Amino acid sequence: MDTTRIQNLKNQAIADILEAKTKKELESLRITYLGRKGKITKLIRRLPSLKPEERKEIGALLNDAKRDIERAISSHYSLLTTHYSLENEWLDVTAPGKKPPQGHLHLVTQAIREISSIFEKIGFVRVRYPEIEWDWYAFEGLNMPKDHPARDEWETFFIDTPQHPQLGKMVLTPHTSSGQLREMERTKPPIRMINIAKCYRRQLDISHVPMFHQFEGLVIDKGISIPHLKGTIEYFVKEFFGSQRKIRFRPFHFRFTEPSFEIDIDCDVCQGKGCRFCRQGWVELAGAGMVHPIVLKNGGINPQIYSGFAFGWGVERTYMMKEGLKIDDIRLLYSNDLKFLTQF
Ligand code: DAH
Repeated sequence: MDTTRIQNLKNQAIADILEAKTKKELESLRITYLGRKGKITKLIRRLPSLKPEERKEIGALLNDAKRDIERAISSHYSLLTTHYSLENEWLDVTAPGKKPPQGHLHLVTQAIREISSIFEKIGFVRVRYPEIEWDWYAFEGLNMPKDHPARDEWETFFIDTPQHPQLGKMVLTPHTSSGQLREMERTKPPIRMINIAKCYRRQLDISHVPMFHQFEGLVIDKGISIPHLKGTIEYFVKEFFGSQRKIRFRPFHFRFTEPSFEIDIDCDVCQGKGCRFCRQGWVELAGAGMVHPIVLKNGGINPQIYSGFAFGWGVERTYMMKEGLKIDDIRLLYSNDLKFLTQF
């Protein structure tokens, strides 16, 4: 038996296999070469009639050929199968995709953005001043001398670090009013500032959290008076709450403004009837007043030439009073409960 013929037969078989386009073609090639009457099978059958020396060499050759052809068939088979399955896989490109769940900004961030844009429309410049502040900016420069009882209102966190020789102790700022002096130092009148930042006080109950936000307005120019203050506040309230809401100005005392007011809004949780959040139908949202001459002087501004007004509001409380929200506990805002947060 001719070894070259066996070699050629094997090469032919492999070439045919690689050409096969379908599984059916592959199957018939298997029969042609390896079936009961296949070309290789026939040769194998003839082995016993060969001379022993020849039989060994030819036998090994035929076995190799058989094995190589089988391998070629099975690897081409899997190639055809993958190809086949891709061709048959059905993809509807018009079907709607799967949307990943989408979150949203925290309510306080939403409120801050809305408040900023309301004030930006009337020319206020958004600024931000330090949360970790010196006593001077938070108290003394705002006309609250050391040990003055007025300071008790701001339940302050002091930081245990060495004092600054002029600026005093380091505190977590208890209000954004500290930004008033910072703004006066940064720029000269006319000033129209809106400072929105975190504040800290040692308080925790239904209407207080130890970390909260305030927005502080400051306007300084020649001839600024109370009507400017009222007009600005009324504009904000109308934009933020709508024109139906009632606010009231109550005379109050702050060391850094004269005269001073507190501003209340009719409670939206109980529609002004009185509830566990507001108690008497009104919610205190802000303090305001005409900037005290001493504060102007401390900020390097001549009170003979300039006057100004200022106001400071709690962001969380303001947001809670938006119509229809009915949030009656400020702590909910920071409880990180998704059942609560995803409602907004
Ligand atoms: N800083 C005051 C507070 O936290 C609020 C305040 C009162 C701000 C009067 C002002 C102001 O700008 O003029 O309670």
